[in-house]
Amino acid sequence: MILVTGGAGFIGGNFVLDWLLGHDLVSEPEEVLNLDKLTYAGNLATLEALKDNPRLQFVHGDIADQALVGQILQEHQPRAIIHFAAESHVDRSIHGPSEFIQTNIIGTFHLLEATRAYWSQLPGSDKGHFRFLHVSTDEVYGTLSATDAPFAETHAYEPNSPYAASKASSDHLVRAWHHTYGLPVLTTNCSNNYGPYHFPEKLIPLCILNALSGKPLPIYGDGQQVRDWLYVKDHCAAIRTVLETGVPGQTYNIGGWNEKANIEVVEQICQILDEIQPRADGKSYTLQMTFVKDRPGHDRRYAIDAAKIENELNWKPLETFETGIRKTIQWYLDNPQWVQGVVSGNYRQWIDLQYSTNK
Ligand code: NAD
Ligand code: DAU
Repeated sequence: MILVTGGAGFIGGNFVLDWLLGHDLVSEPEEVLNLDKLTYAGNLATLEALKDNPRLQFVHGDIADQALVGQILQEHQPRAIIHFAAESHVDRSIHGPSEFIQTNIIGTFHLLEATRAYWSQLPGSDKGHFRFLHVSTDEVYGTLSATDAPFAETHAYEPNSPYAASKASSDHLVRAWHHTYGLPVLTTNCSNNYGPYHFPEKLIPLCILNALSGKPLPIYGDGQQVRDWLYVKDHCAAIRTVLETGVPGQTYNIGGWNEKANIEVVEQICQILDEIQPRADGKSYTLQMTFVKDRPGHDRRYAIDAAKIENELNWKPLETFETGIRKTIQWYLDNPQWVQGVVSGNYRQWIDLQYSTNK
């Protein structure tokens, strides 16, 4: 089996769904153990399709609880850990960095220590085949000018936000645990994801849902900041590829070659909604676009050079931004129940009810 941390979040949730239901498997998929603290970003409704699936087990817990992680590892003997769990929102890290230090740095440290203790006593071949895959971000590299080459794996680390700095720290810890202790780690640094089950604090789901409910579409600063968008299912496929064929100790940058200015992204969302879900007054959703105060320290441009994973591991994204954004918008239109649970906060009440006794 594999242990997934943060499997109730956006990317972890998509990964678990694809692992157990999605990708072309000739035999039964390996079991998944999902360890998630269920912060505001963790939503078990994302895994609703798997609620009766015996191949998925869930543990409500914190990656920083080293004793708990050690116990889980001994009990379930996973052959790999896919580490998604993190605080992931840049704006939240600016308002309050403490949770980011706690989970992304201290949490990853405890997870690594529990993993090292488990891995070091595995028998020979299991030890050799074990993998710790650390899911990280392009934000560790800092920002690019309009003419700079995209981030390659060799780019210097220059994190600019508390979030980015906490992820950079975790990448360094993972690297050191390989270099010093020989732990077979893999690190992936991916660009901006979008797709189903994305929490509506992030630009794309926020704009889709605000547009539909007649609210402003907030664009920070001049809206000319560039992000390199990757459909989440392509990211999940890349992670599976790195897990199976990546070389321990190596880093792989993952991106979709889809650079877009924020304003273009929001305009495109508006145009698709104008076509498939027009406003009652027949006017364009672009009228709801509103420029607001910029994010402090806002990185101007991210872009990923994905040549290494493409050439060495033969992975390529399947979606362009045009196909992926249409699928994403359609998914939000087709899943009002998931959206309602998140927007109303009902998913939190359920978590409180379910977990108040065993916190
Ligand atoms: P998310 O915020 O949607 O989900 C994070 C999940 O981790 C949640 O389920 C949350 O409950 C869980 N979690 C948080 N703290 C925890 C802890 N201490 N112990 C156990 N579980 C905990 O995040 P996401 O967008 O799915 O990102 C997943 C990973 O991918 C993160 O490491 C992030 O840095 C990285 N990443 C994200 C993107 C992106 O565009 N979203 C791009 C590149 C890399
Ligand atoms: O690059 C990978 C990173 O992408 C991940 O590591 C992070 O976990 C993930 O949250 C994401 O970070 P960003 O800050 O790029 O994503 P966000 O959706 O918050 O913002 C995308 C861009 O849109 C960014 O330039 C800020 C801008 N923005 C965002 C929001 C929420 C707006 O203009 N208005 C908004 O309301």
